[in-house]
Amino acid sequence: MITGIGALRPWTDPESVAIGRLPMRSTFAPDAADRRRSLNGAWMFTLLDHPDQLTDELIVGDATAGSSTWRTMPVPSNWTLHDASDLPHYTNVQMPFPGPPPTLPPRNPTGIYRRSFTVPKAWSRQQVVLHVGGAESVHLIWVNGAFAGYGTDSRLPSEYDVSSLVHTGANDITIVVMRYSAQSYVEDQDQWWMAGLHREVFVEARPRVQLADVRCDADLVVADGTGALSVRTTVGFIESPAAGYSVRSTLSTAAGRRVGKVQSAPVPHRFEAPYVFTGHTVELRWQVPSVAAWSAEAPNRYRVTTELIDPSGAVVDSTEQLIGFRHVEIRDRQLLVNGQPVWIFGVNRHDHHPVRGKAVTIDDMRDDLLQMRRHNITAVRTSHYPNDARFYDLCDELGMYVIDESNIESHAYNTSLCNDSRYRTTWLARGSRMVERDRNHPCIISWSLGNESGYGTNHDALAAWIRKADPSRPLHYEGAIFHDGWVDGGLLASDLVCPMYAPIDAIRQYGESGLGTRPLILCEYSHAMGNSNGSLSDYWAVITSTPGLQGGFLWEWKDHGITQTMPDGTKRFAYGGQFGDTPNDCNFVADGLVASDLVPHPAMREVAWVYRPITAELVGGKVKRVRISNRQSFTGLDSLRASWGLRLNGELVDAGVLDLPAIAPHGSADVALPCALPAEAGEVHLTIRFETRRDQPWAGAGHLVAWDQLVLRAAPRAPKAVRAMPPAVVPNVDRVAKLLTAPVELSIFRAPTDNDGFKLMPDLAQRLRVGGQALRLWQEAGVDRLPADSLVEHHLTRTALDECSIEYHHIVEVPESLADLPRIGATFALPKRFTQVRWFGRGPHENYPDRRASAPVAIWDAPIDSEPYLVPQEFGLRTDCRWFECTDPRKGQTLRVDVLLPTMLHCSATNFRAEDLYAATTFTDLRPRNELRVHLDVAHRGLGTASCGPDVLPQYRLPAGRFEFAYRLTVVDSQ
Ligand code: GAL
Ligand code: MG
Repeated sequence: MITGIGALRPWTDPESVAIGRLPMRSTFAPDAADRRRSLNGAWMFTLLDHPDQLTDELIVGDATAGSSTWRTMPVPSNWTLHDASDLPHYTNVQMPFPGPPPTLPPRNPTGIYRRSFTVPKAWSRQQVVLHVGGAESVHLIWVNGAFAGYGTDSRLPSEYDVSSLVHTGANDITIVVMRYSAQSYVEDQDQWWMAGLHREVFVEARPRVQLADVRCDADLVVADGTGALSVRTTVGFIESPAAGYSVRSTLSTAAGRRVGKVQSAPVPHRFEAPYVFTGHTVELRWQVPSVAAWSAEAPNRYRVTTELIDPSGAVVDSTEQLIGFRHVEIRDRQLLVNGQPVWIFGVNRHDHHPVRGKAVTIDDMRDDLLQMRRHNITAVRTSHYPNDARFYDLCDELGMYVIDESNIESHAYNTSLCNDSRYRTTWLARGSRMVERDRNHPCIISWSLGNESGYGTNHDALAAWIRKADPSRPLHYEGAIFHDGWVDGGLLASDLVCPMYAPIDAIRQYGESGLGTRPLILCEYSHAMGNSNGSLSDYWAVITSTPGLQGGFLWEWKDHGITQTMPDGTKRFAYGGQFGDTPNDCNFVADGLVASDLVPHPAMREVAWVYRPITAELVGGKVKRVRISNRQSFTGLDSLRASWGLRLNGELVDAGVLDLPAIAPHGSADVALPCALPAEAGEVHLTIRFETRRDQPWAGAGHLVAWDQLVLRAAPRAPKAVRAMPPAVVPNVDRVAKLLTAPVELSIFRAPTDNDGFKLMPDLAQRLRVGGQALRLWQEAGVDRLPADSLVEHHLTRTALDECSIEYHHIVEVPESLADLPRIGATFALPKRFTQVRWFGRGPHENYPDRRASAPVAIWDAPIDSEPYLVPQEFGLRTDCRWFECTDPRKGQTLRVDVLLPTMLHCSATNFRAEDLYAATTFTDLRPRNELRVHLDVAHRGLGTASCGPDVLPQYRLPAGRFEFAYRLTVVDSQ
């Protein structure tokens, strides 16, 4: 029997969501530093295998570091990253242990945290509150050996009134955290299962009569630009308030200038007249003419200071809330912010740090957001749970639209728990507490009921609660429209049509149908696992041209690799299974646009391009002009500086500043071409670049925000055929052949991308047919192991032109049975001393046939790429190369490839063969070869997003039939 809870086991009972927990309130900064004491830092810690091993002795007995039982554990942290006996566990849909709910696993690691804290004398007549910022999965609390409470929802704070349990001087606190609980079944998100106190813990003194909550509803009257503010203050107390208390609130600008009148009103106290008593709540209102509205483009904030005044006139409590005036509504199948449609340039973000796990710091969060803004991302879905309160403050400050998501995902029991009455209470508690905590943040434009939990009565119950509590924001819930239909399904639970991974055609059809009343915003799309995000620009071509479509949230921001030190001391980013965790879903946890350490993957350039706030395109008939369009909703282009560069055959021949006319939000203007077409023959490209004029909070002056390349004179059409004219005298030295360390041969295989198929999860791919199926077909046909020449017909003609140059001419016939090959091209190798490449084609970053809108055509120079993906796979292609050079910078020797037929090839040069990348299961397995492996492809399969979503579109696949290509290799010595 455990003190306080006896035989009760609340963690096994889905209906027990809290014991002794205070109501949720908005996030308060304490008005005086001495009112709050942080309990972050080292705690005594011990880990049990099971909660039933908990004893009173462990809760109250001696806990000394260095004893056989106790050690220290940092708070905040995940113990799974600090205690080798209980490691992270990754699963996606499946639970890490067998059900059915609420069954718990036989081993359920249970951490006991102990420490003491001092209560100052000054707190003795006050309420003392303990705040637990976040505990995975549930927690129990004892103070000085007395039971203080129980809390659930690992992603929201819990607070307890411990006044009666503490005394002046030293006090003991014990927090017991169970890794798994009945609540785990609604926290089954696709992420690492961790454990521990991963957010801050503190104790705080609050006056006996106090500000319990301050609710600020700041609206914008779109018609006349008036700000309408209602501040509802609830007064709480240990002793009921006597007559004579009042609340006073002041509105000021963020800089501190007062706006409007200071307002105050008495606190109602006549609760002895219960029927007519309205609660200890005061509402004060402001109308602010010509208010500076909040938007992600102009995140203007105001400050509300609220004071509680006692009958003697003394201020006994006060707090500040930063707010923003803005109005969100849905009208005519559009989501409007401040009356204007806004593009949702969004991304899904999890809390993740490769070392700290879920215990992200404010700097980690800020770094994420700054990196997003630098890539034109202006919307975040907090997939799939409320974040640390400070995250929303950063979004308010930096300008980010947020969909705040309830911590509800019952993916493994997708369509049952949502109708299960045992889980009804937790549904409501999770969603309503999120709203109560976060509602003052202007950045939040929609509430999400959670993720992947079917659609049931529990959802409608929560939706109804939120609609009554906060009618100012639309609701988001994908399950509602997935199960009940896009046009008029799930209307009670979702005001957005927010599908995940919908194909382009499906969203286009919804938009064009004109049916329904809701805008379509993809809650997840373009799954960024490995080398991915194919057709991102195709999505946006449809989104920007079809009514009813407004954007979406990419899946997802960051890989969730965890820094792991190997026995030999080397480090790697571990994915599922690499901690011995079973069952697991392997590298499905690494599907971010940035690597675990925030280094952008190449696709981030494409993201920055499709999300650019300003575009340039070529318009006009004979006389061409440049159409500049402003895709922002509230701001002009004053913060940007435009320049142009003219390239003839890839070479920069002229450049200048482009004068931008004033262009209203959502407007466009045509300007004359800034330069004349060069008289010389050849391809002509005009690149327009937009850079920040001044320092921004997220980037310095001169940061490249947007760019577009306009083709003024296209490449010549491909010749029908080429035939090398053999020289009269056959050269007797063949320097090309001597240089190549592996001769030219046909190549039809690429190291499969995560989208081609899950090479590490063959069962999933083959038996369950999940993810891309291309790899399975290639394996069945032997494409991954048989010589290319044995599978397709191949004729190669090799003509030596002189001692230094040879022409190669390939004709390939692909049989019907082999349609949809990864590539068709030539490959050869050079010595490793060739470390530099230069090309006239698309770059500078890696690009693929369906991910190259961001890659302008020019002459680029670069060192050899290294593998950017956690699980090795195809990388490093540069499409549309007219020529391609590999150089040994030390010897000054170059091998040059001139494309003869058609006019361009897709090229790559890396230190790996496709088979090396294919064989490796993790980045650290890779050993660069002693060669530079070059590929020249006449065709290369697109990337698509089939690891989760649509496969490569037909136009980016390789049909069966004839492929012909030719090029010249030349050895050039510069010395
Ligand atoms: C979605 C889900 C995400 C993640 C993603 C695949 O179905 O909402 O949490 O699992 O797929 O990476
Ligand atoms: Mg899921």
